[in-house]
Amino acid sequence: MATIAVTGSASGIGAGTAGHLVGQGHEVIGVDLADADVVADLSTPDGRQQAADRITELSGGTLDGLVTSAGLSTPSPTLVAVNYFGTTELVAALQPALAASTAPRVVLVASSEAIHGGDEQLVKACLAGDEAAALARAGEVMQGELPYVLYPSSKHAVVRWMRRSCVAPGWADAGIAMNAVGPGIVETPMTANLLADEELGKVADAAVPMPLNGHATAEDLAVVIGWLVSPENGHMTGQVVFVDGGADATHRDDLAW
Ligand code: NAI
Repeated sequence: MATIAVTGSASGIGAGTAGHLVGQGHEVIGVDLADADVVADLSTPDGRQQAADRITELSGGTLDGLVTSAGLSTPSPTLVAVNYFGTTELVAALQPALAASTAPRVVLVASSEAIHGGDEQLVKACLAGDEAAALARAGEVMQGELPYVLYPSSKHAVVRWMRRSCVAPGWADAGIAMNAVGPGIVETPMTANLLADEELGKVADAAVPMPLNGHATAEDLAVVIGWLVSPENGHMTGQVVFVDGGADATHRDDLAW
């Protein structure tokens, strides 16, 4: 059975995924701000390093899987620090432990919102790995009229980082498959207030139409993530699997695939 680290393991999609993997007999190393095997703050460089060191220690230096589900949706510079750098820097720090596995797999929890480019200056700073510039730009965006662009920007940047990294030296050539899921609306603590408000819920449903079976649950996502992180996924890398009830197919034309 595999040893798999899951960030954001204390709630929502991360908790659902951790439960699913434990149910399959895997050893899960949960990472979160509290109630986890590894308590670490992924919004800071120190917290990420601490998390990577502890995961490496707990896994004995061989990590079979990494699922990054820690994330924030309320606009703030911290959202960028967690969603982008708390994903990419942690994955990069764990490359040696992943490369030591015979079937290493990484699954990033992105979003169906990642298809929107967002704020170009912010995305550029993220992809350049310049956290100071990214956080400064996020602060500027917060002062403007569209603070909500921070969320899709962070997810768009994460997916572009994945597409670049998965085929760069040290990843595919080390046998590491790296893919993402793009959830639509999932019923978790993150969306509870939004969905409890009838008007806001209608706006969300109009923005993310899910004609196939409506809102998803964390368990719906866990099943897909569980396969992506398994050895059965031997030849797929750099892909975003939209688990969005048809939102992507609704929004984009028939050439986007
Ligand atoms: P959630 O709020 O239920 O869980 C997120 C977890 O991340 C929490 O346990 C939280 O403590 C942890 N976290 C936040 N900041 C952290 C930090 N600095 N360090 C360590 N852990 C931290 O949210 P949910 O819905 O499970 O979201 C999981 C991921 O899925 C997020 O990346 C989110 O953007 C993404 N997503 C969620 C959707 C939804 O509709 N719920 C839709 C699309 C994507």
